[in-house]
Amino acid sequence: MCGIIGYIGDADAAGVLLEGLKRLEYRGYDSAGMAVLGRGGLDVRRRVGVLRHLEDEVRRAPLAGTAGIGHTRWATHGQPSEENAHPHRSGDVVVVHNGIIENYLDLKRRLQGEGFAFASETDAEVIAHLLARAMRDGRSLPQAFQAVVGELQGSYAIAGLCEREPDVLVAARSGCPLVAGHGGEASFLASDVTPLLAHTRRVQFLEDGDVAVVTRRGVTVTDADGRPVDRDTVAVDWTTETAEKGGYPHFMLKEIHEQPQAILDTLRGRTVVDDAGRVSFPDVTITPDEFRAAGQIWIVACGTSWHAGLVGKYLFEELLHKPVHVDIGSEFRYRKSMVRKGDIFLALSQSGETADTLDAAREARRLGARVLSVVNVVGSTMARESDGVLYTRCGLEISVASTKAFTGQLVALHLLALHIGRVHGILKERAIREWLDQLRQLPGHVEDVIKRDGELLAVAKRFYQKNNFLYLGRWINYPIALEGALKLKEISYIHAEGYAAGEMKHGPIALVDEDVPVVVLAPQDRLYRKTVSNLMEVKTRKAPVIAFTSEGELDLEDVADCVFRIPDAVPPLLAPVPLTVALQLLAYHIGVLRGIDVDRPRNLAKSVTVE
Ligand code: AGP
Repeated sequence: MCGIIGYIGDADAAGVLLEGLKRLEYRGYDSAGMAVLGRGGLDVRRRVGVLRHLEDEVRRAPLAGTAGIGHTRWATHGQPSEENAHPHRSGDVVVVHNGIIENYLDLKRRLQGEGFAFASETDAEVIAHLLARAMRDGRSLPQAFQAVVGELQGSYAIAGLCEREPDVLVAARSGCPLVAGHGGEASFLASDVTPLLAHTRRVQFLEDGDVAVVTRRGVTVTDADGRPVDRDTVAVDWTTETAEKGGYPHFMLKEIHEQPQAILDTLRGRTVVDDAGRVSFPDVTITPDEFRAAGQIWIVACGTSWHAGLVGKYLFEELLHKPVHVDIGSEFRYRKSMVRKGDIFLALSQSGETADTLDAAREARRLGARVLSVVNVVGSTMARESDGVLYTRCGLEISVASTKAFTGQLVALHLLALHIGRVHGILKERAIREWLDQLRQLPGHVEDVIKRDGELLAVAKRFYQKNNFLYLGRWINYPIALEGALKLKEISYIHAEGYAAGEMKHGPIALVDEDVPVVVLAPQDRLYRKTVSNLMEVKTRKAPVIAFTSEGELDLEDVADCVFRIPDAVPPLLAPVPLTVALQLLAYHIGVLRGIDVDRPRNLAKSVTVE
């Protein structure tokens, strides 16, 4: 998730862009850059790291001009570096991009074959070269840009300009937000309304497929074929802080709602299907021989990421029939290690900086394991120290409570399981393609849950004043019971415990009475009946029961106090994803009803970089 901005008017463009980028820094801070067009031509500045580094550079050597574009980066392709920072330039055109160009490798190979030299590892650079190439035959910037947009697959919000055409900017969006605005003799572009609020509150929210030509007189919007499109101009009365949250009251809710896109982006461009229909996973850099030679598979993580690891255990054992060891980072590093040379060690971490997981991975490497990390932060310590990295492309996760990064980890684990299943010859191509189709339907299932958020708010209103909760699940949903309980603990300060549903009779059921709501995860799977029996055990002890089940299961209406349903079409191995989203929303509403600052809960940090 990056931030892009554009300006064309009669003021100092560099100043307008810098102030705007400050409002977008919450979208990413791996690097920042800007290009300004003035009488002296095109001037591009880029700096790795936080925006202040660019600001210092611009102060040291000012840029003159009244038109320009800017970018603050959240790395998805290529390490955070000056070479990978935007804007990207090709000849006299420059572009900035937010999103993922899914077909960038094909485009890059074609452009390199035509003699274009690439200076970065990013997908975005292909847009600059495509635009320079399209303008070679005399087309104007808008005409050339229209043609370039038609070649792109994936998600994007793009702004571009050309030195030869100083009075126009071009922009386009598909799958990533882009807002345009006009005020006085100036026009603006940005990833969200925040940077525009200082200049105008009358904006146009561009939609997927829109292409915009931006001049000092205004913004003209067309569709991908160049036909005019009428985009309403709306008056925005958000405060800047609300705008940074995309209009949501909290980053946590915004990030919960970003999960369909995060899942889509984590899936995008991950698999290549050749002419024979064989699926490969170029991201997974540990070789098939190394996977086949591995005696054991280890998954180590902390907190929410550890819960993802537990789901991975069920998944790998179910799909690959291989035993998987899962451990908490702080325990693994002090236990007598059973890691053997050649084992596969999987480190899961949103931040890629968690000390307990980092040290566990270092210990595993010392013992000869091949370390593969699943992280969200490109260029993080864990990513740099691993033998292979599978990035979740969930964008910046700001709220302390991890939400989209967790479901992104689950999706990454599915991709990894499919890859390992393929290299071991356990999963045939047809089964892999069917599974990939199921994964591609996940964003829709998650949207379905989010749309019914009102049902979860109603549950929260009934129980938010309780002081103890139990969360029960079986099989692959036992880790989701743990995760649901952790989410509630973190942001509501309610004592909540997750248990394997079958474990209740071995002690914890002594906790149950009418004041202890019990969340029971009972989607349609092979353990549904057994889970319902556990539900009845707590119900007969007067516990209020909140059941999460599948649409088709109607026999819980009479026994549970509240029932929330996930789509029947969700296969059992994927049920953890929509169930998690429902539990995230339940915890969120309870935390808010209890007056907690859910983005910054007490005693917690977003990244635990100490023991
Ligand atoms: C998740 O909601 C918590 N904030 C916490 O458990 C977190 O998952 C844990 O600290 C691990 O962080 P990581 O994924 O960045 O390694």
